[in-house]
Amino acid sequence: MAGINPAWVVMAALAGLAACSGESGPPAETTRGEARQAAESPAREAWTIPASPGLIAQGGRIYARHCARCHGERGEGAPRWTRRGPDGRWPPPPLDGTGHTWHHDLETLKRVIREGSPDGRGNMPAWGGKLSEAEIEAVIAWFQSRWPEEIRQTWLQMNSGVQGN
Ligand code: HEC
Repeated sequence: MAGINPAWVVMAALAGLAACSGESGPPAETTRGEARQAAESPAREAWTIPASPGLIAQGGRIYARHCARCHGERGEGAPRWTRRGPDGRWPPPPLDGTGHTWHHDLETLKRVIREGSPDGRGNMPAWGGKLSEAEIEAVIAWFQSRWPEEIRQTWLQMNSGVQGN
């Protein structure tokens, strides 16, 4: 299988951005058409989130309400996040691309947010009961929007099924 050219996916995502900038409620007919189109587009595949400015803004609000107190106002993480705290557990790492969050694929990111630290052995709370799947995606879209372009590109390549390219 040839896989998907990540550059193409980025272009598709950018086209999506442009299409979503006039956000004030298209007629239902258009919305359905767009949803169908989006479902068929590679940018809708399970490994990535087609982030519109509206989704990123929503994610930013969720982040500010629920995550900023631990991960920092802009996702910069705790000051000494590379060293275990006095309780022997890891402090909240940065999510803004300066840590290793970008090493995780989308499913892993969703799972850690939904379920918290594996087996409760860390201080990341589980959000599954409090945030919907769509809200979890929005917050991921927000912190991914803060990743430096190079990291974002690397993540796209790692996750689009074209490893080794
Ligand atoms: C009470 C503090 C706290 C809050 C609130 C919190 N986190 Fe965390 N988070 C952590 C800690 C601590 C870790 C490291 C977990 C570990 O080592 O097991 C973590 C890890 C993560 C990771 C994995 C990062 C990586 O690089 O592996 C993600 C993603 C994440 N949090 C997202 C979120 C999101 C999104 C929210 C808000 C919905 C949130 N966190 C709220 C403390 C918190």
